[in-house]
Amino acid sequence: MSRRLRLGVLISGRGSNLSAVIDASRDGKVDADVCVVISNKAEAKGLSIATSASIPAVAIDPKNYPDIAQYEKEISTYLDQYKVDLVVLAGYMKIVGPTLIENYTIINIHPSLLPAFKGLEAQKQALEAGVSVSGCTVHFVNETLDSGPIILQREVSLMSTDTVDSLSQRILAVEHELLPEAIQLFCQNKVDFLTSKK
Ligand code: GRF
Repeated sequence: MSRRLRLGVLISGRGSNLSAVIDASRDGKVDADVCVVISNKAEAKGLSIATSASIPAVAIDPKNYPDIAQYEKEISTYLDQYKVDLVVLAGYMKIVGPTLIENYTIINIHPSLLPAFKGLEAQKQALEAGVSVSGCTVHFVNETLDSGPIILQREVSLMSTDTVDSLSQRILAVEHELLPEAIQLFCQNKVDFLTSKK
């Protein structure tokens, strides 16, 4: 049996996707373990989710560094210390720079069917566009925002009564399934690694 992959999860807030990955790991649904959680916000609730699960959690404030390269070098120190194989962005609300992109394989979960509705407030964008279907996407991270190769997507239908909150909640429930599934595909080598760098 191949060894379990070591995950580093980057967050900025609530951490519900982090929680889903920790649960999937502990329930044997993914052959990987969350080894370190890093937040760019000290107040991120996800940090306490990690701590409660006995996973090392650290807040690194970009404001304490002269530039993004120095900030990401500090993140790299932790990713290397914990021998991370795959970096998972789970609600990490910061653009990733070359220091991380060039040195790690990174995936992200985004609350729309990319390439539609990139960037912030994807659920609001979907409602305003009047589409009948949106959803979520797990993709590799490259130098262009929300544009890396897609690993998995799942649809969520919009309802005429939807608000940003109601749509976000339904998409979030699907995110919690999709992100662990994508990680497991990666663990099983079912994702073409070469596409990750394109
Ligand atoms: C999710 O909707 C994710 O797709 C987006 O930010 C949200 C994070 O939620 N990038 P949580 O912190 O995982 O609860």
